[in-house]
This record gives sequence, structure tokens and C-alpha cells, in this order.
Amino acid sequence: MSEPTIKLVAFCGSLRKGSFNRLALQAFIERLPQGTSVETIEIGDWPLYNADVQAQGFPNPVQTAQQKMLAADGVVFASPEYNYSVSGVLKNAIDWLSRMTPQPFAGKPMAVFGASGGPLGTARSQYHLRQMMIFLDGRMINKPEVMIGAAPSKFADGKFTDEVGAKLLADLGAALVLSVRQHKAHSHVK
Ligand SMILES: Cc1cc2nc3c(=O)[nH]c(=O)nc-3n(C[C@H](O)[C@H](O)[C@H](O)COP(=O)(O)O)c2cc1C
Repeated sequence: MSEPTIKLVAFCGSLRKGSFNRLALQAFIERLPQGTSVETIEIGDWPLYNADVQAQGFPNPVQTAQQKMLAADGVVFASPEYNYSVSGVLKNAIDWLSRMTPQPFAGKPMAVFGASGGPLGTARSQYHLRQMMIFLDGRMINKPEVMIGAAPSKFADGKFTDEVGAKLLADLGAALVLSVRQHKAHSHVK
């Protein structure tokens, strides 16, 4: 019998057409183990977080995203690095979702990678994201770390062309799926 489908949701922190992070997310998805589906949650048109707006009710796209996350087995972040941290658009989405009940990052296996122009390949952004997910009780995969530096030299014709990086993306996807399976098995015995 084939194993049940694993459902992932993904966030991309760049809205740019031709974003390297979006292309890296595509490369990640293409290398996931069979039986895994991914839905990318688009966050570009969410309002800026405002507690007064929240008091009137969460915006529809935030509610929809929460429901998708609650129905998913794991979360993926393609995180660019803006001024040594995560992009504002990604932080805004995390801030909104973090105020919801149930808080949808809690307990979810999750993975992060990123591509940047600089040599550190979003390392600083990823560590900031990891820090946020400590507070939000996400179960972030520790390794492999996938930091795609000098991004303009590693993509051509819309494809990720770096073999070492592609292997790391594949390994990260396998680690995430393994973590999801372990998490599911553990939930069943409780
Ligand atoms: C506001 C802003 C801040 C940036 N800060 C950094 C940075 O701190 N480190 C870095 O390596 N690249 C930085 N960059 C360059 C980005 O890595 C580069 O634009 C990259 O292509 C963004 O990801 P994307 O291709 O997915 O849009 C910055 C770019 C912008 C627009």
C-alpha cells in the first residue's frame, strides 16, 4: 500500500517577478519525495498588521491561510535576506498568523532555505526566522542548512543550476518529509 500523501504549505518572502527565492522554491518542490503536495500561500496583498484591524476580524486571506496551514502536515519557507533579516512581507504574514487561534505554526515540522546576492546566502535571515519559530513552537529542521549565496550566478533560464545546492534542497525536502512522518506516527500512538 502506498503511503498517504503529505501536504505542505509554502511561503515565499519575495514578491519580485523572477525572484531567486521563488525559483529555489520551485527547485525544492521538484525534488520532494513522491507523495508530497505543496501549496504556496500568496502573502503579497495582505494588509499590514494592525491590532485595530484584527479587533474588527482577521482579514480573509489570513483566515484562509490559517485553515490551509492547520490542514497541512508541514511548512516551507523560501526566505530572502533584506538588511540582514527576513523580508517585511514575510514578517507581516508571520505576525498576522501568529495572532490566530489555533496558532498555525505550533507543532508543525518546517524547513527554511533562501537565496541572496551576498556570499552568506540568507544565513542571517534564516537565523532570524528560526528565532521567530522558537517562539511560535514550530519544529524547524536543523540540517541541512541551504544557503544559496551569489544567487545571480546560480540560476539560468528560470532554473536553479547549482548541483551542490540542488542536492541540499533535495536532502532538506527528504528531512522535512521524514520529520512529518515521524510526527504523524508519534501523534497516532498518543
Ligand atoms: C531591501 C533589500 C535589502 C537587501 N539586503 C540584503 C542583505 O542583507 N543581504 C544580502 O545578501 N542581500 C540583500 N539584498 C539583495 C537580495 O539578496 C537580492 O535582491 C535577492 O535577489 C532578493 O531575493 P529575490 O531574488 O528572491 O527577490 C537586499 C535586497 C533588498 C531589495
